[in-house]
Amino acid sequence: MSEEPKTPRSRLEPEPVSRRDVLGLMSLWAAASAMFFALVGMLRLPKAAVLSSPSKRFRVSLPQTLAAGEAFTPVGRNVAVYRDEQGVYAISRVCTHLGCIVKPTAEGFECPCHGSRYDRDGVVTKGPAPRPLEWLAVKEQGGALYVDEGASVAAGTKVKV
Ligand code: FES
Repeated sequence: MSEEPKTPRSRLEPEPVSRRDVLGLMSLWAAASAMFFALVGMLRLPKAAVLSSPSKRFRVSLPQTLAAGEAFTPVGRNVAVYRDEQGVYAISRVCTHLGCIVKPTAEGFECPCHGSRYDRDGVVTKGPAPRPLEWLAVKEQGGALYVDEGASVAAGTKVKV
């Protein structure tokens, strides 16, 4: 028995590619793509996922005409600042029920959401609010007043100016 000598194939008739080779190439591409996207995901990890927020401490310039016991509400802040004979103090305007912003009134504060009322010191006079409004830290520094929305103090704490 003699074998026929293999004749070289023409360039116009390439050797057929088997299904196994095609599947092997596809799985290699899938693995390479998975590695690429995993690498992209890893490179994104060190970035901060939290948005920066404005500082909770801010400077307050009380109007000269602010009467004793009259609320001053700085724009963009949920705080009411007061001045009286004992000093300056700040009360949070965030309702202790579900967090709506209360409005200063002649008698104290009123919540527009569910009708809670507070007196001028932030004490609950009508529910459903469960707790009094928070008093916030006020500091004088270099002749300027600063209120810290993130720091609560005992009710009745006033800063002499
Ligand atoms: S949120 Fe103020 S009473 Fe409900």
